[in-house]
Amino acid sequence: MLTDHVRHDPQDEVAARFYSKIDRSRAVQQTGEGPWLVLGHPEAVQLLRDRTVSSMTRNPGLGVWDQVSSRFFMFKDGRQHLRLRRMVGDCFTPARLAELKSVIHQATCERLDRLSELAEAGERQTDIMTTVAYPVAADAICHLLGVSPVEGAFLGEWAVSLSRHTTDEQFNRSAEQILAFFREQLTAYRETPRMSGLLPIMAERAHAAGMEDDELLATCILLVVAGFETSANFFGNMLLSLLWRRERFERLLADEALVAPAIEELLRLHTPAHVVMRRTTEATVVGDTVIPADAQVAVLLGLCNRDPRVFDDPDAYRLDRASNPHLSFSQGPHYCVGASLARVELEAMLRAVLDRLPLLSLLAEQPLRWSGRFLGRGLDQLRVLAS
Ligand code: HEM
Repeated sequence: MLTDHVRHDPQDEVAARFYSKIDRSRAVQQTGEGPWLVLGHPEAVQLLRDRTVSSMTRNPGLGVWDQVSSRFFMFKDGRQHLRLRRMVGDCFTPARLAELKSVIHQATCERLDRLSELAEAGERQTDIMTTVAYPVAADAICHLLGVSPVEGAFLGEWAVSLSRHTTDEQFNRSAEQILAFFREQLTAYRETPRMSGLLPIMAERAHAAGMEDDELLATCILLVVAGFETSANFFGNMLLSLLWRRERFERLLADEALVAPAIEELLRLHTPAHVVMRRTTEATVVGDTVIPADAQVAVLLGLCNRDPRVFDDPDAYRLDRASNPHLSFSQGPHYCVGASLARVELEAMLRAVLDRLPLLSLLAEQPLRWSGRFLGRGLDQLRVLAS
């Protein structure tokens, strides 16, 4: 594929291919025997804020992962949800975010400087997903939780294996390993209390609220699986979009005040999380449609983000879009608890790229493959030329 000869961003083409199968004229619709779909922005906001609509959409089995994930507050409602979310809900304070921002910027710069050195030695080509996106996202999660990056080197690997579910054997092994890892971390903390990162804070709060260790461990694991791959994937999606049309990248180089609004615009267009699932517990009015009780509902965030009733010229990429109420972090009680961290992380990473590799470009011919999953849409690799 030749980047210069293709008019559209390949991500738009992937989205268009999928979305062209959906009748966009109805904001709420039923798909035969499948789930109901919500693809209108105001309708999605209404449904996601409705406290009678449930996030308990899974039927847990008996495996280790089923047991762990059945304790994720992401899949709980009402007081049960709040009780667990409280463990971390207010932890992303301005001071902690500022510290994380500087750690992430530093970690990204170090990795980019290594790429520059390799480029000077003649090795210009690299896959930025494996050299930068994944390792920096892993560093961010380790630092957030207070886990040493050396000890936590496998966290990212387990998280990817859990979200991709390649084989049952590997999946179950990763579930056991990540659980054992956090169990050891908790034991070590109790033997020698230390104060760095969220783990000690969460452990104290869990103890004060009389929570079981299993709930605390599941919450640590939820932060890893919800926060690691989404950020790494979005970094790749964002960089592809900026480098595909280098004039976008150059606009940011010329005016770094555009970095934050550009990230919002790219989150709107190329979110890694295209869908969230819900279940109605009673007949629910959404817009001018009634969804019956006990129905599965798929909220297509990626399509809501292109609703022309809310976004002027929705398929256009505007770095400086003034109002951008995209739904990439969802809405209502389950609004992404790590949204402020994700923003800080992505901004730190992008600023580091602009500072350290202003001549970065895409390798012109490369197969671009996204993982098929709609909840973690990201590139398998993104080959770039560093100089
Ligand atoms: C670009 C990055 C990210 C995107 C696009 C994203 C997207 C989302 C979305 C769409 C939801 C809502 C799920 C729902 O409504 O059912 C969500 C929830 C959540 N996210 Fe994120 N996320 C990102 C980064 C992070 C990070 C960095 C963390 C933490 C370290 C995190 C932790 C969580 C958690 C724990 C939930 C569950 C919230 C709840 O159910 O109350 N996310 N995220």
